[in-house]
Amino acid sequence: MALVEVKVPDIGDFKDVAVIELLVKPGDTIKPEQSLVTVESDKASMEIPASAGGVVKDIKVKLGDKISEGSVLLTVESTGAAAPAPAAAAKAPPPAPQASAPAPAPAAKAAPAGAVEVRVPDIGDFKDVAVIEVLVKPGDTVKNEQSLVTVESDKASMEIPSSAAGVLKELKVKVGDKINQGDLIAIVEGAGGSPVKQDNAAAMPSPAMAAAQAEAPPAPAQERTLPTAALPPHDPGGPKGTLPHASPSVRKFARELGVPLDEVKGSGPKGRITQEDVQAFTKAVMSGAAQTKAAAGKAPAGGGGEALGLLPWPKVDFEKFGPVERKDRPRIKKISAANLHRNWVMIPHVTNHDDADITELEAFRVLLNKENEKSGVKVTMLGFLIKACVAALKKFPEFNSSLDGEQLVYKNYWHIGFAADTPNGLVVPVIKDADKKGVLAISQEMAELAKKARDGKLGPADMQGATFTISSLGGIGGTYFTPIINAPEVAILGVCKSQTQPVWDGKQFAPRLILPLSLSWDHRVIDGAAAARFNSYLGAILSDFRRTML
Ligand code: COA
Repeated sequence: MALVEVKVPDIGDFKDVAVIELLVKPGDTIKPEQSLVTVESDKASMEIPASAGGVVKDIKVKLGDKISEGSVLLTVESTGAAAPAPAAAAKAPPPAPQASAPAPAPAAKAAPAGAVEVRVPDIGDFKDVAVIEVLVKPGDTVKNEQSLVTVESDKASMEIPSSAAGVLKELKVKVGDKINQGDLIAIVEGAGGSPVKQDNAAAMPSPAMAAAQAEAPPAPAQERTLPTAALPPHDPGGPKGTLPHASPSVRKFARELGVPLDEVKGSGPKGRITQEDVQAFTKAVMSGAAQTKAAAGKAPAGGGGEALGLLPWPKVDFEKFGPVERKDRPRIKKISAANLHRNWVMIPHVTNHDDADITELEAFRVLLNKENEKSGVKVTMLGFLIKACVAALKKFPEFNSSLDGEQLVYKNYWHIGFAADTPNGLVVPVIKDADKKGVLAISQEMAELAKKARDGKLGPADMQGATFTISSLGGIGGTYFTPIINAPEVAILGVCKSQTQPVWDGKQFAPRLILPLSLSWDHRVIDGAAAARFNSYLGAILSDFRRTML
């Protein structure tokens, strides 16, 4: 195991350039050609790749250090597996042309009527490269040298600039198109467009191509000499609204996650977007703390399906087929719709159906109600169900848990929500500490909360803190259904109308009162066997409540 020094390769005219990002840390296992640091001059940025693979022992540079060709970046303990690449193989592309200098422009020629055709310039060995980003849209005013699209080969990515200034009339490419030198990208019309002749288009390297990306397979030395193209540098100090300020690998990382970089706030020097910024943005969106502009714009209309790559919501002229009446949706319906939609999309639901024999329990309930006629407290099956669920939740604690990042939070309290139908929509009041209350107390509290719900008088506190929810359609009908989990809970019980059914008792069919149960559970937390056991235990308790004493 030899210690190998990894030095800055030939980086052309880049001298004394500042390290603005460290992309590896001690202990990391790196591959040859993996990007190690990003450096930035006042004109452009580039990533410096490793000339050898192994385990990083010591980082010899820190943020802000000025480095030049030959500076030692780090030491790696070579595993022997990956032989150190020859210096030339690790050669980063030479620096970009000065942004202020008249940049060699890509191929372009004048089209009739003041329109200018912008074509793909000489991009060296890049052939049939895919368009991975379109950075402008028709109607945009573009400047000379402003990047129009990003293309990517298996080794590097680069941005193709406009050879003319003016209003972008037509875009001739879209994401996924394969393009080659000379292909028409766009038509630009208007002010200042000074088309440049094809023969002026010089082969020019670009730091945008310094995508010696970790994933890029090491290539033979001659192929590592990255292709050249007439491209402007990614000007880090450039005007906002053109390209987000981020290194090629961060841009690729963001693309893979579908993160819109122009919505990410950069925490690096000069507002540079780092990989951590992209991760933080993703976390914020996933936890619901933030929303992408695309999601915010689309949610109310089509339910945001476009963000998932789905077809837009069908737009139908209903009046064409018959008379219609339009009504605004009540506030509760709109709020619960958004919650239900999020829960349905974000939670991998599975529903187990089972039956409980409640013949004796129903007889007991009827008797109880007769005895309590004068007190006015009516006991419904839901009161018993709440109590039975608490017993099952205590036996299977993960059903009373919530996901919190990488952790599962087990709650040592048992607050049971129940779905209540109101004229304005569905609400879920919560019976707090149901484990400490008897069925009579629960029934009374439930009746009060259901009345408050129907009168629209529930306060936020009445609807918070549930650890598990029951949705009972028993008073209405149905057999089985799939209730949607009430996040951040991980399970919900749906109950339908009990029916007397013939049940084989070993000798004959006997009439038994059967209650259909539907348990939806979050498959990230719960597995099928646990769900089947939960349902079966719940059924056993409802058949004989004495089991809760065991
Ligand atoms: N099987 C058969 N009958 C049932 C039953 C069941 N599982 N559950 C209740 N019933 C009966 C009751 O015994 C009662 O009969 P009775 O009038 O002869 O005594 C009748 O149905 C009405 O019961 P209800 O007043 O609805 O009481 P409840 O305790 O069952 O439910 C609420 C209370 C608030 C949950 C209920 O009124 C409600 O809103 N349910 C709808 C919930 C919902 O919309 N869920 C869907 C979410 S997606």
